[in-house]
Amino acid sequence: MDYRGKWALVTGASAGIGQEFVRQLAESGANVVMVARREDRLKELSALLDSHGTKTIPLAADLSDPDAPESIVAFLEEQGINIDILINNAGFGLPGKYISTSWAEQEKYLQLMVSAYAELTHRLLERMQARGYGRVINVASVAGLVPPAAGHTLYGPSKSFLVSFSQALAAEYNDTDINVSALCPGFTYTEFHDVNNTREQLNKMPDFMMMQVGETVSGALKAVEKAHTVYVPGLQYKFLVWLTGILPRAWAERIVRRSGKNYRDSQ
Ligand SMILES: NC(=O)c1ccc[n+]([C@@H]2O[C@H](COP(=O)([O-])OP(=O)(O)OC[C@H]3O[C@@H](n4cnc5c(N)ncnc54)[C@H](OP(=O)(O)O)[C@@H]3O)[C@@H](O)[C@H]2O)c1
Repeated sequence: MDYRGKWALVTGASAGIGQEFVRQLAESGANVVMVARREDRLKELSALLDSHGTKTIPLAADLSDPDAPESIVAFLEEQGINIDILINNAGFGLPGKYISTSWAEQEKYLQLMVSAYAELTHRLLERMQARGYGRVINVASVAGLVPPAAGHTLYGPSKSFLVSFSQALAAEYNDTDINVSALCPGFTYTEFHDVNNTREQLNKMPDFMMMQVGETVSGALKAVEKAHTVYVPGLQYKFLVWLTGILPRAWAERIVRRSGKNYRDSQ
């Protein structure tokens, strides 16, 4: 991939998968605007990547704030930056049963996991279309492709939305140089499971079920270049998604419900 001269925007750039996207995009020559709440981390990353000779701009924003996407786009316009590559990635899981978290928190969660993805894409696509080039990766999950388990209730549904949203956009931009993909990782080593408070459960997971961010991100960048709409990293997860797809729905639901207890907090 040669992204020299292009600008990328990565949300959730302060850790895990987002941080790796920033690294790989900068290595491929792209300038990157990095969004997350922890500005200190973004500044550290920016300093580390200086040697690539590309520009990285840290931009602190809380994407659960409904005003954030518009403010981000206003900042880009002030700076005269046109985004060519959008990586919508920021996210986490809210542990427990649906009603164990207040509606106010659930609403903020939907803002972060659904609305911010949709609004940033909407606001940036217009310019991509005018310039005839764009790459959009929405970071969904295997959880968006298989039946949901108990706990972290809105996580799976929000990821299913991202898969379907990406497919709809990919259909709209078919036969153009605007490619849209949903990246659907399985369990991947990041801070995600510390934030979700499921690290202990996850430590019991067999090693072969754990993916590394490097392969996940390089695979996603190749997939969007090839206009693959849904990309699942790792043969083990491709097999799992295929299996739950061919089994009768009730069987697949039963399997996911049972195994969900091993990695979800449903209380
Ligand atoms: N790791 C996995 O096993 C896995 C599997 C499937 C899908 N995913 C998806 O991959 C994406 C990235 O997760 P990760 O694994 O890289 O987790 P991570 O290491 O915890 O990183 C999450 C990123 O999201 C940012 N973020 C969270 N809330 C935010 C908010 N309100 N506003 C702005 N940024 C926010 C965090 O930054 P700040 O805290 O600095 O704001 C951080 O940069 C998520 O969408 C997740 O659902 C992860």
